[in-house]
Amino acid sequence: MGNAMQEYLPEQDKLSGPRAFDVESVRRDFPILAERVHGKPLIYLDNAATTQKPRSVIESISRFYESQNSNVHRGVHYLSQTATEAFEGSRRKIQRFLNARSSSEIIFVRGATEAINLVAQSYGRDRVGPGDEILISAMEHHSNIVPWQILCQQTGASLKVIPMNDDGELLLDEFDKLVGPKTRLLSVIYVSNSLGTVNLVSEMIELAHSRGVPVMLDAAQAMPHLSVDVQKLDVDFLALSGHKVFGPTGIGVLFGKADLLESMSPYQGGGDMISSVTFEKTTYNTLPYKFEAGTPNIAGAIGLGVAVDYVSEIGFDQIEAYEGELLSYATSALSEIPEVKIIGNAKEKASVVSFALEGIHPHDIGTILDQAGVAIRTGHHCAQPVMAFYGVPATARASLAFYNTAWEIDALVGAIHSVLKVFR
Ligand code: ALA
Repeated sequence: MGNAMQEYLPEQDKLSGPRAFDVESVRRDFPILAERVHGKPLIYLDNAATTQKPRSVIESISRFYESQNSNVHRGVHYLSQTATEAFEGSRRKIQRFLNARSSSEIIFVRGATEAINLVAQSYGRDRVGPGDEILISAMEHHSNIVPWQILCQQTGASLKVIPMNDDGELLLDEFDKLVGPKTRLLSVIYVSNSLGTVNLVSEMIELAHSRGVPVMLDAAQAMPHLSVDVQKLDVDFLALSGHKVFGPTGIGVLFGKADLLESMSPYQGGGDMISSVTFEKTTYNTLPYKFEAGTPNIAGAIGLGVAVDYVSEIGFDQIEAYEGELLSYATSALSEIPEVKIIGNAKEKASVVSFALEGIHPHDIGTILDQAGVAIRTGHHCAQPVMAFYGVPATARASLAFYNTAWEIDALVGAIHSVLKVFR
């Protein structure tokens, strides 16, 4: 298969511009990046699906189970106190990472999906009624569509959708028209997982707030690439997934402004979320515990704290600068292949290059790339309305992280040439 069988190895740095961090040294922090796939070095370009984990995160999980494992908030014994301190310490790290006012605004959940479902039910059920509207955008992930559809079915409200242009940018004039007296909440994706568009969320939040509409951000895909400051954004709710920001799967965070969270009903009932229980009446715990029923993913939360430490240590200035260069390099390299059609050409983009090869199904592209050790995602990326907008069943998507390199992009390009050879 020609180029696809060629081995691409680190060579001179092809990206220009100032760089304080050494990508090859960063790569050594991620053990999986040294793996081989089908006899080839792994080239992992599926970071929008999930990111790889640095050694420090992996070790923190082992350490927890080896020497700290115990339940949290429930014991006076040493181990339980140690586990509780590590768990709550992680909450404080995430508070600082997001610049939330208080750690009680940080709710541990399973991931961004659960965070959005929590807000749809606990915020929405009590406040949304027949004739009301929930506003989302044309580029949402299913996790920011379906929870609102369920809420609309439950309450008689309707879902409104901010349209986008062919480049994959939201039409802000249309958005302006859609935020009206019936709008109860705007919930919008910060960075599109299928197109890479970085939405102008500050402007959107300002406009929504000027009309009394609270805003939820799905920041799952933004978190590994951009510095997010919830106070600066003045966002009301924000969802993130640990596994997309170099942390474990099965853990995520809902940030909510304390006054809103205080005013909301619990999402699930059970242990830890109560203050007192009798058969007649239950009173609820204070924030954040009111929303954390049952034994949480303790090791996951600790691992997520270590992941945000890791990212903070590199720093978003460096991450944004490096990834910006890498994305430009990838976009130019792919654009030079005449058969490649890039889907999503927003002016503001992060990390994602979705593309089609005319006449070749994305799954065939993905399978041949895999033989070359190149992992990309092919499919609808949990964003079927985006695929319908572009009239395609699926795309091939290369998604980058700060540990990716120009030589990996060269390998992707070589493997795409092999795909073309097979199908010509
Ligand atoms: N939402 C994830 C993706 O974009 C799974 O691939």
